[in-house]
Amino acid sequence: MIIKRIINKIKTIYKKRAIEAEYQRENKKDLALKTNYHPELNQAIDAFKKNGGIFNYFALAESAVRSFFYQLYLLEKDEYSLIELGGGQSTLFLNSICEASHINLYSYEHDPDYVKYLKTKVTSNKVIVNYTPLKQISADVRAEIFANPKEAIDIFIKKAQDVSPDEFKNTRLVNGFYTVLKEQFPNKEIDGIIVDGPHGNGRSLAFSIFYKYMKPGLLVLMDDFDHYPFLDDLSKLCKYTILEKRKYKTSIKAWVVLRIEKVL
Ligand SMILES: C[S@@+](CC[C@H](N)C(=O)[O-])C[C@H]1O[C@@H](n2cnc3c(N)ncnc32)[C@H](O)[C@@H]1O
Repeated sequence: MIIKRIINKIKTIYKKRAIEAEYQRENKKDLALKTNYHPELNQAIDAFKKNGGIFNYFALAESAVRSFFYQLYLLEKDEYSLIELGGGQSTLFLNSICEASHINLYSYEHDPDYVKYLKTKVTSNKVIVNYTPLKQISADVRAEIFANPKEAIDIFIKKAQDVSPDEFKNTRLVNGFYTVLKEQFPNKEIDGIIVDGPHGNGRSLAFSIFYKYMKPGLLVLMDDFDHYPFLDDLSKLCKYTILEKRKYKTSIKAWVVLRIEKVL
C-alpha cells in the first residue's frame, strides 16, 4: 500500500515535469516563430511570471493566454470587457494587465476558498470576482436549457440542486454550473469569454447562461475543449470559426480559441 503510494507520487512528479517541459518547449517555439506575437503582451506575461505568477497544468497554458489576447487586441478597442469562468492564475494575470489594457473582468468562481484568496490578491477595481456556488441539473433540464437558451437563467435557478462541497474539486462533475445571480451579470457588452470552469461537462452551459452576450465577433478561449463534446454543444447555439487549437502530448491538456460568427 505504502509502496504503491510512493510509486504514484513519483509518477505524478515525472508527469508534472514532462508537462512543464512541453509547455516550455512550446513557449520557446512560439517566441522564436513570433507566433501570436504582441510586444506589450509578452512584456506583461514576463512581468507576471517574475512576480510569481504561473501558467501551468492547473492554470491556463501561456500559449492559450497569448493566443486569446492576440486575437482580442486585434479588435483595437479603447476598452474590452471579458467574462472568466473558473478563477485562479488567469484572474491574477488579468488583474495585472487590466489597467493598462483597459479590460473589465467579470470572473466567476464556485470555491469560497479561491474566491477569498483571489479577493485578497486583486488590486484593480476593474476586476470583479463573483462568488457563484455550484448547482447541478438533470439531463432533462439540460436538454430544456439547450432548447430554450433565452430562458436558461430562469430554468437553471428554478430547477438546479445544490452541489455538496465534497464535489467542489471533482473534475468529472455532471451538469454542474455556477449560480449567477441577476446582479452578477455584466452590464456591458462582452468581447470575450474565458471558459476554464466549472469542472466536468457543465462547461457547455456557459453559452446558454450567458446567451445574451453571444454575438458575432465574440472571442472564446476554452480550456480542455475536447474532454467533453463542448464544441458540439456550442454548435447547437451558434456558428463559429476556430482560430487556433492545441493539444499536448504529455497530458490530456488542450485549448481552443474561437470566434462566434452567427448566433442561431
Ligand atoms: C482549471 S481551474 C481554473 C484555473 C484558472 N482559470 C487559472 O488559469 O488558474 C478550475 C478550478 O480549480 C480551482 N483552482 C484554481 N486555481 C487552482 C490551483 N492552483 N490548484 C488547484 N485548483 C485550482 C478553482 O476552483 C477553479 O475554478
